[in-house]
Amino acid sequence: MIQSLNERFAMEGLANFEAGEGGLPKLCLSTLGGASAEIYLHGAHVTSFRPPQGTELLWMSRASDFAKDRPIRGGIPICWPWFGKPAERDDLPQHGFARTSAWQVEAVSQNEGSAEAELSATLSLQHNEDSLSLWPHEFDLQYQVSVGNQLSVELRFTNNSDQPASVGTAIHTYFDVANIESVQVSGLDGRRYVDQLDASSSDLKLTEGEITFGEEVDRIYVDSEDEVTIRDAVLNKRILVSKSGSRSTVVWNPWIAKSQRMADFPDDGYQTMLCVETTNAADDVRRVMPGETHVLSQTCRVDL
Ligand code: BG6
Repeated sequence: MIQSLNERFAMEGLANFEAGEGGLPKLCLSTLGGASAEIYLHGAHVTSFRPPQGTELLWMSRASDFAKDRPIRGGIPICWPWFGKPAERDDLPQHGFARTSAWQVEAVSQNEGSAEAELSATLSLQHNEDSLSLWPHEFDLQYQVSVGNQLSVELRFTNNSDQPASVGTAIHTYFDVANIESVQVSGLDGRRYVDQLDASSSDLKLTEGEITFGEEVDRIYVDSEDEVTIRDAVLNKRILVSKSGSRSTVVWNPWIAKSQRMADFPDDGYQTMLCVETTNAADDVRRVMPGETHVLSQTCRVDL
């Protein structure tokens, strides 16, 4: 498989396929401008991005599974076609099936128009017998990952069924931080959120000022379309996350007890990661009509 992928898509010095962890195939990209990224076909999962002259942007769990039936922990899982569990369907897989599906490579190319000779890869996923047993819609998903000074991802969902489809999504990005207690998140000031840790209350809660971390945080911000900034005071760097096609944003850190409960997550992992997720979740789940396409995109860049 690796050989045939390389025969079709490799680009000398810029793009090649290798056997990654667990023998799962991954695409390695290195731009002429000095950026690099890795994308597993399993889940179309971006596991690494380094901007030119920069350090790793994404956090990866050193205890992650790399197996066909398990999600990868860290990087950018694609949660689709639902976020969490659909209402009253505890039997369905958490965060959907896209992250545990085998995606196809459609194209790898260099974007001639971009100053830093950006590289792009497009992966796709279509309905099959397994997906139809979980979710009754024929679909086409195209996921484009663009690597240059910034990391951009775009997920295009086309509803090829004859029924409207309700779709929840998360571009579930794990960012690498030096120390979570020295991180501040801005861009959500004055925004309201569903507190996923407070089942007793259905009221939205308000964020005032910047978000800091000293306990478990699991929030779905509604009406949040603006750019979010993660400020890492130890590394003196800012990560800027902008998006389109999304009016909801998840902020998640599992803190101590939940880290211990997750088998594929190191006990101390919460100290050096933070998820800021571009989503269609809560009241932002989309109803996509037959033949329509919904596009969700996210761009991350680092400001030193
Ligand atoms: C977050 C959710 O997006 O994903 C959390 O808000 C959840 O509630 C987390 O724990 C991780 O989910 P999973 O399925 O990858 O363990």
